[in-house]
Amino acid sequence: MLSVVVLISTLLFLFVQVPQGAGLLLEVLRYASENVDKSLEQELRVIIEVSSLASRSSTINSADLAGLAKHVCAARCNTTFNQTMANSKDSFERFWSLTEDPGLAIATRRSVLACIILHWILQKERKFDDHAEKDLENITRWFYNVHLHSVAQRGLLEYLHISKSGGTSFSEAAALNDCSMAPGIGQVEELGDLPRWINGTAFEEVTGGIDIMWSYYSTEGRSPKVRSCRERSAYLHSLKYDYVSNEFTMHGGGTNMVETHVCPQTVNVVTLRDPDSRLISHVHYILARIQKRLGKLKASNDDDDDGEDDNGGEGFGGTVGGRGGSGEDISQSEMFRSLFCQGNITMWEQMAPTVVDNYITRSFIGERAFHTSVGSIGLHHLDVARRVLLHFDLVLDMDAGSDATDFVLRQGLGWSVNMSQIHARSSWSVYSKLNYNASECQNDGLLRELQARQGPDRQLYRFGRALAFLDFLHLVMAHKLGLQPVLDISSFRRVASAGFYSRALSESGGGGGSGSGGGRVSGGGCGLIGAIQVKKRHLHKR
Ligand SMILES: *[C@@H]1O[C@H](CO)[C@@H](O)[C@H](O)[C@H]1NC(C)=O
Ligand SMILES: *[C@@H]1O[C@H](CO)[C@@H](O)[C@H](O)[C@H]1NC(C)=O
Ligand SMILES: *[C@@H]1O[C@H](CO)[C@@H](O)[C@H](O)[C@H]1NC(C)=O
Ligand SMILES: *[C@@H]1O[C@H](CO)[C@@H](O)[C@H](O)[C@H]1NC(C)=O
Ligand SMILES: *[C@@H]1O[C@H](CO)[C@@H](O)[C@H](O)[C@H]1NC(C)=O
Ligand SMILES: *[C@@H]1O[C@H](CO)[C@@H](O)[C@H](O)[C@H]1NC(C)=O
Ligand SMILES: *[C@@H]1O[C@H](CO)[C@@H](O)[C@H](O)[C@H]1NC(C)=O
Repeated sequence: MLSVVVLISTLLFLFVQVPQGAGLLLEVLRYASENVDKSLEQELRVIIEVSSLASRSSTINSADLAGLAKHVCAARCNTTFNQTMANSKDSFERFWSLTEDPGLAIATRRSVLACIILHWILQKERKFDDHAEKDLENITRWFYNVHLHSVAQRGLLEYLHISKSGGTSFSEAAALNDCSMAPGIGQVEELGDLPRWINGTAFEEVTGGIDIMWSYYSTEGRSPKVRSCRERSAYLHSLKYDYVSNEFTMHGGGTNMVETHVCPQTVNVVTLRDPDSRLISHVHYILARIQKRLGKLKASNDDDDDGEDDNGGEGFGGTVGGRGGSGEDISQSEMFRSLFCQGNITMWEQMAPTVVDNYITRSFIGERAFHTSVGSIGLHHLDVARRVLLHFDLVLDMDAGSDATDFVLRQGLGWSVNMSQIHARSSWSVYSKLNYNASECQNDGLLRELQARQGPDRQLYRFGRALAFLDFLHLVMAHKLGLQPVLDISSFRRVASAGFYSRALSESGGGGGSGSGGGRVSGGGCGLIGAIQVKKRHLHKR
């Protein structure tokens, strides 16, 4: 059994990086399922469960999804692999209309793949014939096509930036791929997407009246002017942006957490990081900023901590009233050490309640539940978070390594990236500017105590990395079939003539040498996200 990280890098090596002739997709699946560890296996079951529960809640289509998952999975324990594949294929034909709803198509992709792998794991002798390979190929083509078209159709990416989880590097990758976005890390302040870290009142109480950036904790909801998904995307379109980074929480849930959702108008992508290292990094980052703020008071050079020099962009251009200079007589670095390096957990709970208590889960449960009091995040919140996460187009696991990220972004979004390079650059700029030495402000005991409380985050992360694994596997198989992250006009037209995406494609027409290489359009700016703009121009030219 391999850990999921090792499994992913081995798959990457065996099936992507090493050039080889046409091999079997089944080999990829076989390798994956023979090496899946118990905890990943368990999460695959949770994924199937969550997708059938998710679909039970709302529309008619949703009932279809529940039916589909059940149909595919019913077979998994007592039929052949061949039969499972045949069932899946059958289902696609019956549930073709799922493509009209990206969220359902995504959940279906995950649950079908999870079922197939589980089925395989449970088989004693793993035997299949040529049909299985053919079916798997068809399933992969089908899902990959739906993904490509649905991403290009939406043409606007919303990245959920969970603080200290690789967000700065991700936004830099977007900028390098010519996504059109707000300066810095692509946050749009008017949308109310800034992070809610610090309770400014509590901070002032602790420090005797000193203020600080990121004291937005008490700004509960988003601005009513651009609160709904439709309003947000109209606003972003008016700015001609195709990328936005959200560092607050998912949408809706202002009155009832259960209504929290992804925006169907946007392609939704998130990067996840191990909760322990994320927490440590977040606490030290805040400490570094506080030290800098207090240091500046001491120097009393009136240099506002306005975030312009903002350390690889983890901050943003927030406003800070430079009220500094109070208490000139105490040594500020003494104050920093005595207040913030003593591991006072009560103080942290008051000053940064969301940061120290299941911040990852809070990022998925909407505006109201985000502010749930310290110690109250539980299973009910986790259920909502899992359902919302399931509907993201792509889930990336930062701990699976930058090669895996590079591959997923290339095959999944048509971006060209070298994450290890980007990441090295942005962390260098953070540490070189902050002049903060973590070993002088240890807080080890505090961090240990806090880590013990992040149970929901740990469970959510396990679930998320299983989704990331399935996405990765799907994209490896698409890659193995030679499928490229570009739109194929002839298939686009077929889809359009079947009634899908008719709005965006209403201008499509004219003859179309199907199958000829001339019918392909690769992405303009922002890879697949920008491809439809290019396509529209292309179609007009014909
Ligand atoms: C085998 O699957 C069918 C449904 O496909 C189910 O009704 C039956 O109970 C299953 N048998 C066993 C032994 O699990
Ligand atoms: C596998 O399924 C196909 C139909 O999808 C069938 O023609 C073939 O005979 C099956 N093979 C076995 C070994 O059951
Ligand atoms: C796979 O799909 C192609 C075209 O969509 C179809 O002709 C073929 O019969 C399918 N193969 C199987 C095994 O379902
Ligand atoms: C912020 O902290 C102050 C002082 O500790 C407290 O009275 C207030 O309730 C806190 N705000 C929120 C929104 O929890
Ligand atoms: C810890 O912080 C709280 C709140 O700021 C404060 O009331 C308490 O005295 C502190 N405890 C110690 C031991 O410093
Ligand atoms: C990415 O950048 C690193 C560091 O510059 C380099 O070693 C590596 O070869 C690059 N990878 C690719 C795929 O270009
Ligand atoms: C950080 O502090 C420790 C302990 O005081 C010291 O040994 C180390 O050299 C410092 N590191 C840097 C980069 O200043």
